Amino acid sequence: MQGLTNVALRQLFIEQVQPDVVFTEFLQVRPGARSPLKPNECREITAQPEGTPLVVQLMGRDIDALVKAAEAAEQAGAKHININMGCPYGRMVNNSAGGALLKQPDLLPKTLDALRASIQGSFSVKLRAGHDQHDEVYDLLPMFEAAGVDFLILHPRTVIQRYDGAADHEVTRQVCALTSLPVIANGDINRAEEGQQLLRESGAAGLMMGRGAIADPWLFARLRGERPMVIDQVERCREIRAYLLALLQRYQPYFCGDTQVLFKLKEVINLIHDEWFHKLRKALRKCKKLPAFIALIQEL
Ligand SMILES: Cc1cc2nc3c(=O)[nH]c(=O)nc-3n(C[C@H](O)[C@H](O)[C@H](O)COP(=O)(O)O)c2cc1C
Repeated sequence: MQGLTNVALRQLFIEQVQPDVVFTEFLQVRPGARSPLKPNECREITAQPEGTPLVVQLMGRDIDALVKAAEAAEQAGAKHININMGCPYGRMVNNSAGGALLKQPDLLPKTLDALRASIQGSFSVKLRAGHDQHDEVYDLLPMFEAAGVDFLILHPRTVIQRYDGAADHEVTRQVCALTSLPVIANGDINRAEEGQQLLRESGAAGLMMGRGAIADPWLFARLRGERPMVIDQVERCREIRAYLLALLQRYQPYFCGDTQVLFKLKEVINLIHDEWFHKLRKALRKCKKLPAFIALIQEL
């Protein structure tokens, strides 16, 4: 999740809660760039330890640039490439990349064919239900199948909806029924029961968790039945304390200085919505210095 996740957070998740797969944030692909991927993006792919597959997500619209970026990612060791067709945000949309690709579906087969021809490993697409309307995705499914995409990840909001309203998992169910491709369901999975129900009712092949997993990293374990689905406040306090302190340890060497570490930790606590945490979150957000923030966490 661009701006929110990073290698340090992914490593913590890989070590502590073992998701089956992790994704990079979108890597922006621009035509005419000096090199298809930035050195730090290549380093991140190279540094991925064996065990948990890393999917490298690309966002762009220029076919040649996307193909070169996919090739560079594979040369750096990536075995899984994903293309972002969901990001609703201005800069990207004006640049006709991300979710804006869904505005011109006629142009998609050329892009998908070129990527499929060059990608040796798995190739997936992350998309929204449509650009303007929730039913646009249905007509696109044969195109994804014909292009030889390996799987789809569906976030069933429209691009123009951004994050407003709720993810419409009736669309997920319909998409699963209409395509032979495996579909990974995404959007508003914040609790284990929600994820399990979605798997049962939609026919999805798997789940992708974003904000819900940042708020509760053990969501993966709860979904697998390895941790209780519901815990009391005392246990949740203990988990959040351990999580934030472990993240702090990773962030201090990763980010440059206390101010950045504090800013990044605040982004994480902003997604923790337990009712009892509300007051503490307010206090944590007001902290101007990292030691004050840490002291409040330690009191948890
Ligand atoms: C801050 C933020 C950054 C995001 N960055 C990305 C991204 O880089 N690539 C992507 O595919 N989706 C990105 N998303 C969308 C999420 O992956 C996900 O599709 C969406 O938040 C719905 O799922 P959730 O309810 O599990 O978070 C981002 C979302 C947020 C809130």
